[in-house]
Amino acid sequence: MIELTNINKSFHLGGETIKALDNVNFKVKKGEFVSIIGPSGSGKSTLMNILGLLDVPDSGKYILDNVEVQTASDNNLAEIRNKKIGFIFQNFNLLNKMTAVENIQVPLVYKGISNEESKKTAYKLLEKVGLKGREGHLPTQLSGGQQQRVAIARALACDPEIILADEPTGALDSKTSIDIMNELEQLNNNGQTIVLITHDINVAKRAKRIVKISDGKLYEEV
Ligand SMILES: Nc1ncnc2c1ncn2[C@@H]1O[C@H](COP(=O)(O)OP(=O)(O)OP(=O)(O)O)[C@@H](O)[C@H]1O
Ligand SMILES: [Mg+2]
Repeated sequence: MIELTNINKSFHLGGETIKALDNVNFKVKKGEFVSIIGPSGSGKSTLMNILGLLDVPDSGKYILDNVEVQTASDNNLAEIRNKKIGFIFQNFNLLNKMTAVENIQVPLVYKGISNEESKKTAYKLLEKVGLKGREGHLPTQLSGGQQQRVAIARALACDPEIILADEPTGALDSKTSIDIMNELEQLNNNGQTIVLITHDINVAKRAKRIVKISDGKLYEEV
């Protein structure tokens, strides 16, 4: 599903070069649930941005679902991203003036699906993540855990090949974090491929496989 080979990424800042990813090799099979754990500044978000086609490496090869992504144009990359990847972020990234249902409709309408049909899908997804009855609520009228459930439903809207979650429980209390991890585990049990980034070992342990990142280098946990 995902295959990164010899990926390097540096940032240049005021004459200094920061090697954010150092010769990273990483494979994810369909149906896997992998966590990437590492301290602040270790390169987690940089890796997530490359996996999610939000940034490009300086060198190396990235194959996603049999497509060699470095050969794709920007337009093509955006299309691949919309079709194949669902994102979940620490701060939910919901649109605050839109209701729960409308937030989930956004990627569907963007894809060309009608308002009526996308609304139906959004209702179903909200029910799936345990938010039946909250469809018309604005993000500010929902708890943190409920907002993250809306974000999970939105990530699922386009039926992605893979879900990328960057610190999805980072803004939540420990009980709510467990709820959200249960939700992700259930999705994985139903076949959803998930890559989760965290600095919290208790969160990382919920995945079936853990890899460590440190100073831009990736190590497989045994
Ligand atoms: N746009 C950028 N310009 C310059 N340096 C950057 C940029 N983005 C990241 N870096 C540097 O690259 C390294 C890796 O950053 P990254 O954001 O991937 O870390 P992280 O593991 O996600 O950290 P955190 O847990 O704090 O989110 C850090 O040293 C960071 O300062
Ligand atoms: Mg980060």
